[in-house]
Amino acid sequence: MKNLLIIEEKIKKFNKIINVSGDKSLSIRWVLFASLADGVSKAKNLLMSEDVLAALDTIKKFGIKSKINKNYCKIYGKGFDGYKYKKNLRINAKNSGTLGRLILGLLINTNHKIKLIGDNSLSKRDFKRVTEPLSKFGARFILRNKKNLPLNIIGSKNLSPVKYVEAKGSAQCKSSVIFAGMRTKGVTTIKAKKSRNHTELLCKYLKLPIQIKKKKKYDEIKISKVKKIKVLNYNIPSDISSSAFFIVLTVLSKESKLTVRNVNINPSRVGIIEILKKMGVDIIFKNIRTYKGEKIANINIKSPKVLKGINCPTKLNSAAIDEFLLIFLVAAKAKGVSFFKNLSELNQKESPRLKWGEKILNRMGVKTIVKKDTIKIFGNPNLNINKKIVIKNYFKDHRVFMTSVIAALSFGGIWKIHDKDSVNTSFPSFLKIINELKN
Ligand code: S3P
Repeated sequence: MKNLLIIEEKIKKFNKIINVSGDKSLSIRWVLFASLADGVSKAKNLLMSEDVLAALDTIKKFGIKSKINKNYCKIYGKGFDGYKYKKNLRINAKNSGTLGRLILGLLINTNHKIKLIGDNSLSKRDFKRVTEPLSKFGARFILRNKKNLPLNIIGSKNLSPVKYVEAKGSAQCKSSVIFAGMRTKGVTTIKAKKSRNHTELLCKYLKLPIQIKKKKKYDEIKISKVKKIKVLNYNIPSDISSSAFFIVLTVLSKESKLTVRNVNINPSRVGIIEILKKMGVDIIFKNIRTYKGEKIANINIKSPKVLKGINCPTKLNSAAIDEFLLIFLVAAKAKGVSFFKNLSELNQKESPRLKWGEKILNRMGVKTIVKKDTIKIFGNPNLNINKKIVIKNYFKDHRVFMTSVIAALSFGGIWKIHDKDSVNTSFPSFLKIINELKN
């Protein structure tokens, strides 16, 4: 079967320098900002994955062209009010929650009805979390089951700004409301629990009317109507969430060393690094620099001699939200019991990831106790698998697939992992880099 990956051998020790592909969050945001710019924007190292291609297809539906060359992508923006709305428009966010949720913020000011659809996984996810605040601006929504895709949005020319409290720590909800605030006269105020802040950094770099006050637990964001967006040329740094697979492979291997080059180490994204450090891993950021508000570095890491269990502080949850499946693998090999809490958001992802984390660990023979939004993992530093493990029917969640590959290469056993093509949503070159580490 072409779409099945079988792994029967652990990886041997390695010492490598790798480059991983562009950051997904930044790639999708670049497409959206560039689509609103006055003129032609260029991006280098844009992530060429299905989620980002879906973003390019979406802006095309609004008359915004793009061109993909070998080394860069160009978007021909027609200005902040340059979207053309044809009748009966239907846009498809495919697997991408980020695209589906962010684009809605930009569509609140057209009277044309627009239909948003997604793939099976996205159609199971909660869209009420964005349609609720966006309705307050004056847009109307019709959702399947009052919370799911497909949905219809009917915008309004008569919008008023809102005061919005974002309490989940969701950057998608926050960003969607920031985009809506950009379309609305007056000042929109957002009190947002800390989450990745790429949208705010791009707004600042573009000198848009945004103000941010950083408080200890949340940020207060004020955004006013935007008139014009300048061209946005961007060299997209590598994705820490994609790098994390190889970082964790190094952590779980013996006597190995790895450098990942040019990674976005925005503090709102490096929860996994902080968690691994607390578990006893030696990780160093080298050549730290700032690029258009984002922090970038090379990450150096070597296999630790011992791993300690962790009682993970919840303040790290949001900055590690896409990496918990991997962190659970590390906890499985740590000495002692690890405990993770307040993880209800994990079950809101491309698959219910708290449940899938538990399933993978249990199939590996690791004891866990899972309650509503917590997981206790009983680690075993000598963990070694000798049985067959089959991973399938996981809603094609790319991170379930890639985490299973890392588990197979680290702990042994015979793994049959279905739906190999799931990597295409976020990281098409994943298996190519695994092969680089093998040779
Ligand atoms: C993202 C935000 C996070 C994250 C997702 C990308 C973004 O989702 O899980 O992969 O680019 O804004 P939430 O906002 O739902 O936490």
